[in-house]
Amino acid sequence: MERRGFLKLSGTAAAVVVAPSLITETLRADDGSLYKTYDKVMLKDSEGNPLKTANVVEQENYVFNFPHAATPCILVKLDGPTDKTATLKADDGTEYKFRGGSGKDGSIVAYSAICPHQLTHPKASTTFFQYVPKGTKTLAYDKAVGGVFVCSSHLSAFTPKDGGARVTGPATEGLTQIVLEVDKDDVIWAVGAVGPNKFHEFLTSFKADLKKEYGRNKAKKLVKTEAKVTTLKNFSSDIQQF
Ligand code: FES
Repeated sequence: MERRGFLKLSGTAAAVVVAPSLITETLRADDGSLYKTYDKVMLKDSEGNPLKTANVVEQENYVFNFPHAATPCILVKLDGPTDKTATLKADDGTEYKFRGGSGKDGSIVAYSAICPHQLTHPKASTTFFQYVPKGTKTLAYDKAVGGVFVCSSHLSAFTPKDGGARVTGPATEGLTQIVLEVDKDDVIWAVGAVGPNKFHEFLTSFKADLKKEYGRNKAKKLVKTEAKVTTLKNFSSDIQQF
């Protein structure tokens, strides 16, 4: 199938009408601009064991839901440390600071896997949004060979080492960073989010589908205590990347 055909198939919310008030919602500044803390959630692997940084495979895509029961995120151990000095700007002009990566060398990051353009996100049936490892070509961004998050719906790309900044494509702002902490036992926790908030828009746009999948009023519930993590290749049966 040619690429244009694929682009039409992605899980976007293009046809969904969303109230402007929802589109412009931003995170509360609990701890700095556009930063919001949530209940600490322990990440657990598919066998129910606490996910430790030592067990995270470099440049593998790991999916988990946070801060809501149905809002997907992707965790990646990058090939090197992040730029903790990065400052980004949301569409409304608000500046916010990247919180940096976690783990010994600061290379473990997580981002909301909801594309800020039209909300494409990983689905069990098909996935068009993912981290493209270094050394893997993408049509979205020819300035680097991989090492970027790519939404293959309309070829937006985002750089994970400096806060998920948008570097190309129709998206106009960056990804929401999921802030992680690592405890003394090397276990990874999700504790907050920083950047433009697409959670409410996502939950509203896909309300009917999410109700079918999660049950009435369950999709928007905040995750408490723990979140199951699985590799993207185990989560999704069809991964598309251009
Ligand atoms: S939904 Fe259009 S680039 Fe992601």
